Amino acid sequence: MTTPTLPSLAVHGFSESVPQAHLLAENLGAPYADIEVHRFPDGESLVRVDGAAETVVVYRSLDVPNDKLIELMLAASALRDGGAKRLVLVTPYLCYMRQDMAFHPGEAVSQKVVCGFLDNLFDAVITVDPHLHRTSDLSSVFPTARAEALSAAPLLAARLQERDIARDTILVGPDGESRQWVEAVAAPLSLDVLVGQKERAGDRKVAIEIPGIERAAGRAVILVDDVISTGMTLAGAARLLLEAGATGAEVMTVHMLDDPTVPPMLRDAGIARIESSDSVPHDSNAVRLAPMLADSVRRVLGQLR
Ligand code: R5P
Repeated sequence: MTTPTLPSLAVHGFSESVPQAHLLAENLGAPYADIEVHRFPDGESLVRVDGAAETVVVYRSLDVPNDKLIELMLAASALRDGGAKRLVLVTPYLCYMRQDMAFHPGEAVSQKVVCGFLDNLFDAVITVDPHLHRTSDLSSVFPTARAEALSAAPLLAARLQERDIARDTILVGPDGESRQWVEAVAAPLSLDVLVGQKERAGDRKVAIEIPGIERAAGRAVILVDDVISTGMTLAGAARLLLEAGATGAEVMTVHMLDDPTVPPMLRDAGIARIESSDSVPHDSNAVRLAPMLADSVRRVLGQLR
């Protein structure tokens, strides 16, 4: 009897994002396999993988991250036990990136802790538009794993190009941190940009000002941000812009976190359309990341021994 040969490269994914992980496998010309998770009544998880290739790409976005991180740890261990020599994590949305310092005495620096945890499990980590603010380079928080931070901005720009939007549309970033995204999306289309200022007083409490907002009067606006969580940032910005005479407001984001209360709240604020990349599965997904992720996997594998 002959032992079946395992492929040298395979993509494994979890149940919440099978289509996205499949698409990545297709773009890599590699087989796809599910990682099974059984949840015990006491809340513990049992993780099971079906064989392991020499190189395994594990696909999982880390929105709603706490259970997912533990399951990733168990999956990485099972894959290594199964013979995987190289593990690459493709995590289009990387969690805990906004807590990149202790803002108050006694707080954990979550970014450093979580990236250190993943660094121990994987040989390489690929993500998309991580919220790098005070940390300028993703590799500075991954001490040993190869880390690639990709940007979806060119894909969002291509999406706007394909939609053939009015040439006088203004792209608006709601706060200083969004400047990098809004400028990168606007540049290829030579669109006008406005960038606001935000003060956050709590999880759902933000105060926004948009210097130069009078330029939005009589024009359509598209708000651009890296992530929508509670939606309060973009709802606040949209209200100001519509009050200032904008003819319509839409939203384009890289990561649309999946809170069902957010889309209706954004619509109440006057936002007519939401588009996002498929980093987190959501009805608003309009941009596929798989081809860009596959290029990055090939690049990273060329650099790993
Ligand atoms: C923060 O600076 C980010 O770029 C986003 O603006 C923010 O995280 C969005 O959060 P929310 O949707 O909860 O207002």
